[in-house]
Amino acid sequence: MKPPQMPLPKHVAIIMDGNGRWAKKRHLPREAGHYAGMGAVRETVRAACDLGLENLTLFAFSSENWKRPKTEVGALMGLFRAYFRSDMDELVERNVRMRIIGHRGRVAPDIQQMIQDSESRTAPNTGMNLTFAFDYGGQEEIAAAAQELARAAKDGRLDPETITPELFATRLFTSALPAPDLVIRTSGEHRLSNFLLWQSAYAELLFLDTHWPDFDRAALTAAMGQFTARERRFGALDTLDSGAVA
Ligand code: FPP
Repeated sequence: MKPPQMPLPKHVAIIMDGNGRWAKKRHLPREAGHYAGMGAVRETVRAACDLGLENLTLFAFSSENWKRPKTEVGALMGLFRAYFRSDMDELVERNVRMRIIGHRGRVAPDIQQMIQDSESRTAPNTGMNLTFAFDYGGQEEIAAAAQELARAAKDGRLDPETITPELFATRLFTSALPAPDLVIRTSGEHRLSNFLLWQSAYAELLFLDTHWPDFDRAALTAAMGQFTARERRFGALDTLDSGAVA
């Protein structure tokens, strides 16, 4: 008899890595890798919608990425502008709700405006939640949440004894989303790189050798298959062990 299959993940989060290596392999500038990476974003979003995924979060720019050469940061910002301009109509048509998590205040004012416009335009949508982590760092996010709770406690608005993981999670950027149950990283590195540190506590991790620009519908479908084949226990016993008589 086939073992029971896990349902599809509720929230897939992806560390899109390997644009530079994809370009290098082809003797192209790194920017060409990022451009191809934008194509993979488009295809992955379409595939995720078609699969009926409820939440997709993509790591588009980390707070550490500011340290890259100015030309590369400029090229990435140009791509984000292009993406917001060209893809918003399709996201609306597909009933996608788009959100950005991250610092916000450090990007150029026109991008801040685009973010705000895209979020309000897609806010009534009830389909997939598409979240871009943009100028995002997990430790920064956790520290900001701790600051907010500490301030509330200092002002007497909060009893520190009432701080639980659930309460803490309401102060994170992701408070409107379920925790990711599958985190995928492309391009062979086995690290979280400051991505959704709190939220990924129980996530299945999937590390793929594929460079991000080569990630496509088939790769996403295969990743779903790998997830559904795994058994998640959240620290408890599996079904066989818990039913076993010693
Ligand atoms: C990592 O590749 C990827 C990034 C730093 C940025 C992700 C950006 C995109 C996928 C392009 C556009 C996205 C949107 C949403 C329009 P890397 O440069 O670190 O690759 P490497 O490790 O091989 O050098």
